[in-house]
Amino acid sequence: MPTLTVNGRPLAFHMDPQTPLLWGLRDGANLTGSKYGCGTGDCGACMVLADGQAVKSCQMSLAQAEGRAITTIEGLSRDRSHPVQQALVAEQAIQCGFCTSGLVMAGAALLAQNPDPAPEAIKAAIQNLCRCGVYPRVVRAILRAGRVMRGLETIAAAPAPGGG
Ligand code: FES
Ligand code: FES
Repeated sequence: MPTLTVNGRPLAFHMDPQTPLLWGLRDGANLTGSKYGCGTGDCGACMVLADGQAVKSCQMSLAQAEGRAITTIEGLSRDRSHPVQQALVAEQAIQCGFCTSGLVMAGAALLAQNPDPAPEAIKAAIQNLCRCGVYPRVVRAILRAGRVMRGLETIAAAPAPGGG
């Protein structure tokens, strides 16, 4: 029975240890923010953090994730206040939203390592696929989130779910 630390809490999964982490999170832990896009490691919709590194959870088994600190979009911030989330909203870099949680995790991992990346570094680091083509807006959003993290700018919090 694989036991993982997910969003700071130990979770035991009553699943085959070879189950992809994505399905463990979605079906075993009801953490459905990580999306299934391709299942082949190409799109990044399933991205989570493992010990702070962005990983594609469709390509990692529960057994491989054991002993690592897994962070999902649900654990990144409780109120959508992470600078990457704020900046993606502010730059209108969300269309259908299917790729968004993966983008947020990739952006958060990048900025945790380098809060002042050049546009080319952002394009190189964030290879997530977006069917809606928000790529230029994502670059602007990550640059903006970096400015927030460096204390150069503030962004008003994104509205609460449900429009409240
Ligand atoms: S679902 Fe994992 S990379 Fe596409
Ligand atoms: S916003 Fe639709 S797939 Fe990216």
